[in-house]
Amino acid sequence: MRTYLVTGGAGFIGSNYIHYMFRKYGDAIRIINVDKLTYAGNLENLKDVEDYPNYTFIRADICDAETISRIFEENDIERVVHFAAESHVDRSIKNPDVFVKTNVLGTLTMLNAAKAAWELPDGSFKPDHKFLHVSTDEVYGSLEEEGEYFYETTPYDPHSPYSASKASSDFMVKAYMDTYKFPANITNCSNNYGPYQVPEKLIPLMINNALNGKSLPVYGDGKNVRDWLYVEDHCKGIDMVQEKGRLFETYNIGGHNEKQNIEIIHIILDTLREKLPDSDPRKAHITEDLITYVTDRKGHDRRYAIAPDKIKAEVGWYPETMFAEGIKKTIEWYFDHEDWMKNVTSGDYQKYYEEMYKS
Ligand code: NAD
Ligand code: DAU
Repeated sequence: MRTYLVTGGAGFIGSNYIHYMFRKYGDAIRIINVDKLTYAGNLENLKDVEDYPNYTFIRADICDAETISRIFEENDIERVVHFAAESHVDRSIKNPDVFVKTNVLGTLTMLNAAKAAWELPDGSFKPDHKFLHVSTDEVYGSLEEEGEYFYETTPYDPHSPYSASKASSDFMVKAYMDTYKFPANITNCSNNYGPYQVPEKLIPLMINNALNGKSLPVYGDGKNVRDWLYVEDHCKGIDMVQEKGRLFETYNIGGHNEKQNIEIIHIILDTLREKLPDSDPRKAHITEDLITYVTDRKGHDRRYAIAPDKIKAEVGWYPETMFAEGIKKTIEWYFDHEDWMKNVTSGDYQKYYEEMYKS
């Protein structure tokens, strides 16, 4: 039985990844999920797997070197999939420090612990032990309106404190690969959407606000472009890179699904109206009148777009879920999990929302 150490597994992508991996490999793998449970971590996301004998949750901070090293000493971990991070750009603009701490120093702690556990006396590493660092397309900066794409060779040009911290963490992973031949890969993925995403990010925020008749805050002119990927496709890509990718390589994950923010909002409104029965009182207030243009995000990147040529050619991965299908599945998931949304948006979320969106 192969043992995985997943960091940040209680967050959006991490919890989807754990579900994906248990669906795919069942009893053939064991997963240890290490998560600090910040505001973004939610054990409700993993309710259905929490009693699996091959699943263990450990509440810990990835910056806590002693605890992380002990986890490596006590378990023969063959795969690390490192998601844990502060992930929201708006929060990084207000409070950059924790982004450097978790994203840069936390990644360094993970690298040191894995290196100490896996390095052999001759400086080589235990065979078939691998570290996958989950990163973002935001490290490449911002593209012009049309035509250009992010390739693995695109120079790094991060702008927000979030993307700068992710770029720094990528450079540490690259340094360990180049200096020690540390067995790792980096994936740089575009914007994910799907179940279990906290409504501080565009898609779940717009779904939740529209359902509650609240205004839909559009930054700037609403024409910034993101390249949207259904989260399960990302999870599959991560697994395929770890199993089929060449060690020490970076792979971009994303897939020619560029949309302006305002287009996304119109699609959400249309899909909500299509899905809600006429008898549902919420249907009447789901109109374009909710759309409200607000002050732009500081340093707002204009366009992200991934060229997934390398991962397709070398690993055989391509995005399988069309946006029209993915957004329907996502909205249905939020309809079926109203309690999840209520729990996530109670308490601290309200304070965050009021502070973030006060006019
Ligand atoms: P998220 O914010 O939903 O989840 C982050 C998780 O990490 C949470 O469970 C949180 O509790 C945990 N965490 C935070 N700080 C920690 C610490 N110090 N120690 C241990 N755990 C800690 O994030 P997400 O959207 O699921 O993103 C996961 C990863 O994927 C991040 O590295 C992010 O940069 C990257 N990524 C995200 C997207 C996206 O669209 N969401 C796209 C590309 C890459
Ligand atoms: O590209 C990958 C990145 O995608 C990940 O690395 C990040 O972790 C993830 O948060 C995401 O970053 P973005 O900043 O692109 O996502 P967000 O959902 O915050 O915003 C998407 C776009 O929508 C962006 O142009 C800002 C805009 N927006 C966002 C919010 C929350 C609005 O117009 N209004 C809003 O209220």
